[in-house]
Amino acid sequence: MTADVFVTRTLPDPAAEPLVAAGLTVDHRDDDSGCPPAELAERAAGVRALLTVLSDRVDAALMDAAGPQLAVIANYAVGFDNIDLDAAAERGIVVTNTPDVLTEATADLAWALLLAAARRVVEGDRYVRDGRWQSPSPVLLLGAPVHGATLGVVGMGKIGTAVARRGRGFSMPILYTNRSPNAEAEAELGAERVPLDELLARSDFVSVNAPLNDDSRHLIDAAAFARMKPTAILVNAGRGPIVDEAALVEALREGRIAGAGLDVFEREPQLADGLAELDNVVLLPHVGSATTETRGAMVRLAADNIIAVLAGRDPLTPVR
Ligand code: GLV
Ligand code: GLV
Repeated sequence: MTADVFVTRTLPDPAAEPLVAAGLTVDHRDDDSGCPPAELAERAAGVRALLTVLSDRVDAALMDAAGPQLAVIANYAVGFDNIDLDAAAERGIVVTNTPDVLTEATADLAWALLLAAARRVVEGDRYVRDGRWQSPSPVLLLGAPVHGATLGVVGMGKIGTAVARRGRGFSMPILYTNRSPNAEAEAELGAERVPLDELLARSDFVSVNAPLNDDSRHLIDAAAFARMKPTAILVNAGRGPIVDEAALVEALREGRIAGAGLDVFEREPQLADGLAELDNVVLLPHVGSATTETRGAMVRLAADNIIAVLAGRDPLTPVR
């Protein structure tokens, strides 16, 4: 008999346990590699719920392969650019995400990248490990000041606001762009909403925290790098395709900006040509929300969304 729920990939604790405890039958593909599309379509057939991850492409064809009984797609992520929302709406399928529970962890990670890029932490680590350190040097690994520098936040949603709030602890003036003014960020953090061009020209650190959509794709392109200060550092713990990665490689190589810290990429897990050869960029494998607590909370929230919808109740965190 077909299970109620197909879980497409290995999950951290509590994994499938909350679904099972709610009396649902679960087909858990306990394999930490992306589910091949053909296998996804095959195992989705007949289920009432899918628990998906960002590496799953959830399009109309998959929804049709699952069948008309499919009621809910719970994405284990705050983002949902891997899901065709229009196709889901046409079929009456509820789509949910995992907002809020990962806001602080993701902002922490953006800051880990900011500090690491500014103070050349990863370069320094390699230098020590490689046995190149001969003696403390007056000219070794000079970096960029963080305290008092200007922080520009592109996308002042919950995560962007959490990134900006940390900046106040470093006495940073905050600039931001957002579709609409964020009154809370302005009152609490003194953040100033400015056009993107002005943010790029004035910021010492530019943190990308916008969602990926048609408006934000390649928002940070060659023209944007040309507007940034040559001393500026780009931090992206949001979505890779918001940055034109080939243009970023060029800007880093030519010294048009000073550095970058990236947790996300245009074609994960692939990197743009030349990116990994550069010393002035810190690279992480999309681990923004990866703390034990946060990932556990994401699992529980995804499960609770499925349990609610299958019981005929409203989902806790539907998208849109
Ligand atoms: C991670 O990128 C997420 O959307 O949760
Ligand atoms: C969600 O938490 C967001 O920052 O949009």
